[in-house]
Amino acid sequence: MCGIVGYTGRPGAAAAVGHSALDVVMEGLKRLEYRGYDSAGVAVLTPGGVDSRKKSGKLANLVAELEAAPLPDATTGIGHTRWATHGGPTDGNAHPHLADNDRLALIHNGIIENFAELKAELLAAGAVFRSETDTEVAAALLGSIYAGAGNKDLALSMQLACQRLEGAFTLLAVHADSPDTVVAARRNSPLVVGLGDGENFLGSDVSGFIDFTRRAVELGQDQIVTITPDSVEITDFFGAPAEGTEFDVNWDAAAAEKGGYDSFMEKEINDQPQAVADTLLGRSDADGRLTLDELRVSPEELKSINKIMVLACGTSAYAGQVAKYAIEHWCRIPVEVELSHEFRYRDPIVDSNTLIVAISQSGETMDTLMAVRYAKEQGAKVLAICNTNGSTIPREADAVLYTHAGPEIAVASTKAFLAQITATYLLGLYLAQIRGNKFQGEIKDILADLAKVPAKIQQVLDSAEDIKELGKLMADTSSVLFLGRHVGFPVAMEGALKLKELAYIHAEGFAAGELKHGPIALIEEGQPVFVVVPSPRGRDSLHAKVVSNIQEIRARGAKTIVIAEEGDDAVKAYAEHIFYVPETPTLLAPLLTTVPLQIFACVLATAKGYDVDQPRNLAKSVTVE
Ligand code: F6R
Repeated sequence: MCGIVGYTGRPGAAAAVGHSALDVVMEGLKRLEYRGYDSAGVAVLTPGGVDSRKKSGKLANLVAELEAAPLPDATTGIGHTRWATHGGPTDGNAHPHLADNDRLALIHNGIIENFAELKAELLAAGAVFRSETDTEVAAALLGSIYAGAGNKDLALSMQLACQRLEGAFTLLAVHADSPDTVVAARRNSPLVVGLGDGENFLGSDVSGFIDFTRRAVELGQDQIVTITPDSVEITDFFGAPAEGTEFDVNWDAAAAEKGGYDSFMEKEINDQPQAVADTLLGRSDADGRLTLDELRVSPEELKSINKIMVLACGTSAYAGQVAKYAIEHWCRIPVEVELSHEFRYRDPIVDSNTLIVAISQSGETMDTLMAVRYAKEQGAKVLAICNTNGSTIPREADAVLYTHAGPEIAVASTKAFLAQITATYLLGLYLAQIRGNKFQGEIKDILADLAKVPAKIQQVLDSAEDIKELGKLMADTSSVLFLGRHVGFPVAMEGALKLKELAYIHAEGFAAGELKHGPIALIEEGQPVFVVVPSPRGRDSLHAKVVSNIQEIRARGAKTIVIAEEGDDAVKAYAEHIFYVPETPTLLAPLLTTVPLQIFACVLATAKGYDVDQPRNLAKSVTVE
């Protein structure tokens, strides 16, 4: 939530974009806009002081504002795209906020929980506020500390300010007294440093500077970083020197471009064969032995666990639900899946024999981060499945398994979901391998099936014309239901979530077996219902049960839209529309059956004229609880 960029360079350092801090910052904001897009603003340091522009609405409005009222050339600047928390999305509430006679500018991501108390104190001391935001309170606090100290030490003032702030925050500040310096602080909110030659960068994530450098530094909790063109200094909130961890950015700028597609969403749906292939890459040897050395947790420790709890939110939690079916089946370990925000408020039973699997694309979701910390306090081991290098959740976890989906820019998750499911399969197979639950030959066979999945996803993508057509035809639909059973159940939930998020249509996913226990009352003449049908080759007559469910809803007037396995002719007679996916073992089927549902939601939302990359009210990376 909220995108943050900071830049300082020697004149001429950022030659790639023409020597201007503003160009670098705007480029970063363009890449980070997915984090929040209700307003945006920039500030640059000029010989005369601080100059800023800000505008409500998408970044395009700020671009227009900058054309109408250009900022002077500068070598140091900060920029922000906002997802409103305190105060509506107005020009006045947009960041930066100014203080110290408009010589200091500050931007913020997060929530200052004690802002009311601080505001009262600052008002009593004569401060004047021009916005409804908690951010302006942080700016005023920093400004008053800085002015009061009179030593022109912005980093020291930031330390003192942070000692007074409660909540979650990333703060970036510039002051006219230090024309080549940006000072930043972070607590429970993302911030990464980018290292250049004669220039340094700050970003909410590496996309903020991906065009300029591939060297980055991850910061720890409660740290302050001061960048100048030639230095990066890190301390804690009390001034003690601290160190970050340098890493190489493995995303490239091209991966964060639309690549000829109309939207990032379309591109990312089409990236899925690669996302799955890359997540599988290099994780097993020729004999089918998994080699997850990067996990940072010993096989002995993993052998001793007697329960797995998956903690995640939204789409990532649905990936966890798929994982439950696979891991329990392969490893015979009980797996619970819980929404992170519910977990720590209910006195959960976790101990040193529990393995927490925290799934997060961004690695910054505050609900999941807090749940992880709580679980660690209870003695549990935490393994993160994450897509973002340098993010907080993998850094705080005991172990990490990265998904290699590449940057996911569209706010609604698609390729990260498939990569997460793939990573959970790898984890399940690894656990089965080290715990001896499966013969090596079986693991090898499953890995061989997994290796065929990217090409099968490609087949689904290549034969998507009919589902696209249906998406366009159904643009006026007001409600869609999704049914699934076994691993098809989380797929149904994900299909419904995509439609809600992208097309703002009422959509619900149900376990098909649950239908008769209530939801069937929703069925009336013409109600569209997607049904994810399990393979007829699967076990326990699951297929027959779902076919019966389809008949039950058809008898009540439902319009049935079926996702089935190639060759499943039996179900055809009960489907108004049918979309086939290639054959694959039941447990792996979500990697295929999800894809038509994503395409349907994307096309339908586009047909309604909505922005599929930046749906209303949402932001990627939910860094507030
Ligand atoms: C839905 C979506 C969200 C995220 C959720 C968790 O399309 O993107 O539901 O899955 O906010 O985010 P991460 O995975 O970053 O923790």
